[in-house]
Amino acid sequence: MTTGTTTGTTGRRGQLDGWTNPLRDARDKRLPRIAGPSSLVIFGVTGDLSRKKLMPAVYDLANRGLLPPGFSLVGFGRRKWTAADFGQVVLDAVKAGARTPWRQEVWDRLAEGFRFVQGTFDDDEAFDRLNDTIDELDRERGTGGNAAFYLSIPPSDFPVVCKQLARSGLSAQNDSGENGHQWRRVVIEKPFGHDLDSAIELNEIVNDVFPEESVFRIDHYLGKETVQNILALRFANQLFEPIWNSHYVDHVQITMAEDIGLGGRAGYYDGIGAARDVIQNHLLQLLAFIALEEPTSFSARRLRAEKIKVLNATRLVYPLEETTARGQYTGGWQGGELVRGLKEEEGYDPNSKTETYAAITYEVATRRWAGVPFYLRTGKRLGRRVTEIAVVFKRAPHLPFDATMTEELGQNAFVIRVQPDEGVTMRFGSKVPGSQMEVRDVTMDFGYGTAFTESSPEAYERLILDVLLGEPSLFPVNEEVERSWEILDPVIEHWATLPEGPDPYAAGSWGPVSADQMLARTGRHWRRP
Ligand code: BG6
Repeated sequence: MTTGTTTGTTGRRGQLDGWTNPLRDARDKRLPRIAGPSSLVIFGVTGDLSRKKLMPAVYDLANRGLLPPGFSLVGFGRRKWTAADFGQVVLDAVKAGARTPWRQEVWDRLAEGFRFVQGTFDDDEAFDRLNDTIDELDRERGTGGNAAFYLSIPPSDFPVVCKQLARSGLSAQNDSGENGHQWRRVVIEKPFGHDLDSAIELNEIVNDVFPEESVFRIDHYLGKETVQNILALRFANQLFEPIWNSHYVDHVQITMAEDIGLGGRAGYYDGIGAARDVIQNHLLQLLAFIALEEPTSFSARRLRAEKIKVLNATRLVYPLEETTARGQYTGGWQGGELVRGLKEEEGYDPNSKTETYAAITYEVATRRWAGVPFYLRTGKRLGRRVTEIAVVFKRAPHLPFDATMTEELGQNAFVIRVQPDEGVTMRFGSKVPGSQMEVRDVTMDFGYGTAFTESSPEAYERLILDVLLGEPSLFPVNEEVERSWEILDPVIEHWATLPEGPDPYAAGSWGPVSADQMLARTGRHWRRP
């Protein structure tokens, strides 16, 4: 959602609602917005995220003409690299991960703005050099001194980097400079803590240095086209909203299934687990988008207010031994490949109790949703990679057919296919052709690939551009993050009290039996996407 906030401003003015006052912003909202003069500083340049997502996204943005002419990319890291070495790393990453075609002239122009600052996070002089580099980029390339600091580093390093950014003056916004307002922003990757207390602590550290409107917490699911489309589907149409409530909806299933294992991620994942890794953030954000009330505008302030209302109304359903499930994958055959169980993956504790599968029941205690369970599940090494949101409707109150005629009729469902095969499926009953009356489930499909000629930008493209534009709608605020921990912590604490570890499930299956039992207790079953 591109809103009408004024590019490059911060504070109250930047948060006002452009959509409600066309006189204040007459810009045609269908046109892409190009970022103003700025640079992006990446901490953690050698990490997976930088190479796989951030660097390709920067090139793709440049290729789409969405970056300003003097845009500069600064790497900060320990390696003794020259700017050329850094350029080579970016080049390799772009060649491997870019989605748009290679254009030498775009690359050449972009590469002119590459700089590398060598140093460690406790090295004052390195941060002073970074400060000089940013000043220099302003003089040489007209970046206006504007800079976004992307912390693609472990959260344990956030405090020292934030402190250094403050000490060296790098975090200072400047309203009195020659260039008018000069902004400084910080971009933080998850995990935002590992429970409520650590998240509060982390938010305090960051907010001590950067005002909240300059903090951009990345939840890359919100950068996905299909997730933003939830708002379009719900609020641009008349068809769905009247039935989007407990009178018609039986339950909601939000599934994030992955077929990959966790080899190579022990340092982060062991002891963290699936619930903290993705339910606390991605899946609860999806729940918020599905359940929120219509915002009075799509400005960041209004949208976030609605999300916060939903999250505040979202509760766990008790007893947790019946309404949650967890599992850990064991070795076996997956897609013709023999794979290892988590405990045998390199770097994991052979007695690890880390869950690689988690399912949790929530309810949203509002007039609209009372009594409708929201089932959230996620897992690694499952049958297939798929993320979807299924809104499953109640059965018709009366079926004027013989029972045998509707044996094959399930519940109507509206399924948002987040990825892959992005689109929407509607499932309903239809007469089977023939002289008899028999009703069976059929599906009606909308697919992005066939409906649109435009390709969807990668989530990180959209989010990096929004950071440079100062457009905060798609970034959760501290209150959302903290509330999400508050409604997850009791589950983690409950699991920690259980003598047994997570229930085993075979790689390539759809999770532990206990997850099926969790739904079966309420007379429901998981969809097999
Ligand atoms: C990350 C999680 O946030 O999202 C990973 O830490 C997960 O465990 C990844 O694999 C999935 O992202 P996507 O965009 O491929 O669904």
